[in-house]
Amino acid sequence: MSSSEKSYHKRSIGNHPLRPESLVMGYGFDPHLSEGAIKPPVFQTSTFVFKSAEHGAAYFRKSRGQELSDDMKDPGLAYTRINNPNLEILENRLTLFDGGEDALAFSSGMGAITTALLAFAERDQVYVYSSPLYGPTEMFLKDFLPKFGVKSISFPADAPKEVVEETFARARKMGEISVVYVETPANPTNAIVDLDLCMELAGKTAKSQSIRPVVMSDNTMQGPIGQTPLITSGIDLVLYSVTKYIGGHSDLIAGAAIGSAKVISRIRSLRTVFGTVPSPDTCWLILRSLETLKLRVNEAAKNARICAEFLQNHPKISQVRYLGFLEEGSSKKEIFDRTCLSAGSTFSFDVKGGQEAAFRMLNSLKLIKLAVSLGGTESLMCHPGSTTHSGVPAAMRQAQGYTDGLIRFSVGIENANDLLVDLEQALDAV
Ligand SMILES: Cc1ncc(COP(=O)(O)O)c(C=O)c1O
Repeated sequence: MSSSEKSYHKRSIGNHPLRPESLVMGYGFDPHLSEGAIKPPVFQTSTFVFKSAEHGAAYFRKSRGQELSDDMKDPGLAYTRINNPNLEILENRLTLFDGGEDALAFSSGMGAITTALLAFAERDQVYVYSSPLYGPTEMFLKDFLPKFGVKSISFPADAPKEVVEETFARARKMGEISVVYVETPANPTNAIVDLDLCMELAGKTAKSQSIRPVVMSDNTMQGPIGQTPLITSGIDLVLYSVTKYIGGHSDLIAGAAIGSAKVISRIRSLRTVFGTVPSPDTCWLILRSLETLKLRVNEAAKNARICAEFLQNHPKISQVRYLGFLEEGSSKKEIFDRTCLSAGSTFSFDVKGGQEAAFRMLNSLKLIKLAVSLGGTESLMCHPGSTTHSGVPAAMRQAQGYTDGLIRFSVGIENANDLLVDLEQALDAV
């Protein structure tokens, strides 16, 4: 490794550790390898020219985990489905906010989730998961994996401790538990799962079987500014739809997996097989987005509180499921205080009068856009019951606490007063 390579991987000035929001501007990139460009160019190439046939052979030896001689330690790059400078810089920077040892970027959030879940799949082993999950993830765990002999069992995201313990006990009777998969806060209900409890139960389970379950959490809804489960709870892997807060501008589709080097290495080899990598230009856009992640997320969270308080006091709204309103002294508030750093900026609320009233509100919006997705700079609203969650049976939706008037609100970084004016006039139309 050259001295300049070492300098662009430095994480401190003397004894002073640099914060992720400072490192994210330059970490992992040496401008002098690219004509002094302050931003990495887009390496729009499918393949890379080896310095020599020996370097090509060394590259493949390294990829099989073999030791290389000193003069071959850095054999270069080979092929963009495996690595690319934009991908490598992005993966270096993705580790920063979450405190991961290593990271992988993917072509979508679902690419990250399915590749990570399949990397640990073994016939007759059991996956324990919290429900509700993002629809396609739940379908993958509940319907798809069991077709190939991987068993799965769920517990409700807002279940009390005893129910989660009982689910683990039932799962253990079905076979060895290999994966615990959680999404918290859940979409769209904002139900919170206790990650510390999942870790404790995974640890206890490990004593009665040959493997320790890998604990994974989809951290899309909070993002790494609002919740850092690798640091706070010591879980093995966080997964993201980078499309949401990390991408943050509603202009790309991508995913990420961040965690321990061991877990990431197992997923990496399967990503190469599936080809679920993002393109170089998508990586470049995410690098741009990471620089403003903290600013955007904190500003949106401020706006979300203002909007949530307005809705909470509005006579046409029956309930606002905002994490900042969790009841003092409740178990959910205790879990929130222990595991979350922010109340975030996506929440749902129930319009009195069911779907008809909710549709009237949505059709009257002037500034807030009517669209699925979340975590962008602009505010979005949607009606999950007829769109993103329309595949969830009505009885299950009711059990999970949705009403027909439930609207999901992803609050952006517009002027807060303008948002309130839009909410007020849209609710006047209900
Ligand atoms: C919580 C959550 N996880 C995963 C996904 C899937 O991400 P993508 O659309 O980037 O594949 C989504 C998408 O909405 C999501 O909301």
